Amino acid sequence: MIISVAGTGYVGLVTAVCLAEKGHDVICVDIDSKKIDIMKKGVSPIYEQNLEELMRKNRNRMEFTVDYASAYRKSDVIFIGVGTPEQEDGSANLNYVRTVSKQIAENIEKDCVVVVKSTVPIGTNDEVENCIKLNLKNNVKFEVVSNPEFLAQGTAVRDTLEAKRIIIGTESERAKKIMMKIYNPFNLPMVFMSRKSAEMTKYAANDFLALKISYINDIANLCEIVGADIEEVVRGMAYDDRIGSKFLKAGIGYGGSCFPKDTKALYFYAKNRHGYETKTIKSAIDVNSSQKTKLFYLAKKHIGNFDGVNVTILGLTFKPGTDDLRESPSIDMVACLEKDGAIIHAYDPVGTSIAKKVFKDKQIQYCNNPIEACSKSEIIFLLTEWDEFIKIDKTIAFANKYVFDGRNCYSPKDMKMTKAYFSIGRAYQINKK
Ligand code: UDX
Repeated sequence: MIISVAGTGYVGLVTAVCLAEKGHDVICVDIDSKKIDIMKKGVSPIYEQNLEELMRKNRNRMEFTVDYASAYRKSDVIFIGVGTPEQEDGSANLNYVRTVSKQIAENIEKDCVVVVKSTVPIGTNDEVENCIKLNLKNNVKFEVVSNPEFLAQGTAVRDTLEAKRIIIGTESERAKKIMMKIYNPFNLPMVFMSRKSAEMTKYAANDFLALKISYINDIANLCEIVGADIEEVVRGMAYDDRIGSKFLKAGIGYGGSCFPKDTKALYFYAKNRHGYETKTIKSAIDVNSSQKTKLFYLAKKHIGNFDGVNVTILGLTFKPGTDDLRESPSIDMVACLEKDGAIIHAYDPVGTSIAKKVFKDKQIQYCNNPIEACSKSEIIFLLTEWDEFIKIDKTIAFANKYVFDGRNCYSPKDMKMTKAYFSIGRAYQINKK
């Protein structure tokens, strides 16, 4: 069985490498020839634990090409793993999915299964099927299957190889058999359902996790007002295994390539296509949006105007273990600080080179280590919980500083050396006037 994977981003490349690891022959297709050349040399274009290692280990089973026509011609199965970026109005842009569907239709020469892995609004698999039907050049049979992924950045390979479940949306027995053949070597639970249910499962799962985060952030904000401690509250909640402890870490909001995009996509899809307002998802989006700049306004309230004031940002990526800044709270914080006239110093263990591109129009002075970054100013915003920051020598880094900890990395009782320590959902600690 020959499998092609269209798109070599997080979803496509990780899927391809994991399929190869399980013994399948895989052709990775991308329109970006530079990326293809890099991968041919055994180098991964993205930073992801174990990905490059597995890419090299399985190189005999992997091919990389821009020649989609010849790849699709010989394939029994074609995975679509291209991006579905957010559009201005929040809806998902399906142009890449449509282009690939048309290319598949024009080139397949044998019966094949087309697997949609990209996160797509409900009904898109039907659209893909119609598009292929309309543009089909040869007399072949094909089926379209929805097979969403649930991988998180930083643990994408593990999340794929050890997935909690594999969702397979199809009404066709032939397609079901082929999907089982692909996934049997993974030895994981397979959950079969209709295509629309599979498409919905992906959004429902992601948006529920986003909602959990926004819910706990909402409660954390209230904890600050009433004098409760969110860490204690979550500890108390987690004993109830109907609730659990996961995704209840209060902070300055969720970022990344999925939660922000998928919450908005489902909200706008439901509202614009079906006139139904998903109120809980709307609340998750709203809470997250104000949470991202919460520390800026808190700092303004306690310190005043930032005009000409040095500030330090520790952590620019949307979470540790990745160099990705997409939808990171650091973007909103930098925008607010810059607008207010602050002089920004920043340090991130992995994200600096991407940050330089994201913030190319911003005046940011990048530092070589967290201690140097902290030495540049009296006001420190910690935005990403990198290990390096958790383990930092606090007496050197934070003595007589205002520390705004957006990820609750420290215990307030250990922060006596600061001028003041602010975190999320816990009492503010003012040590020195
Ligand atoms: C997420 C989902 O976990 C994954 O299943 C899905 O396929 C894609 O979206 P990812 O975006 O890589 O993965 O990161 P994740 O670790 O889930 O974190 C997302 C954001 O939520 C980060 O900004 C993180 O800081 C934040 N977060 C997460 C919290 O603020 N609190 C939490 O308790 C958990």
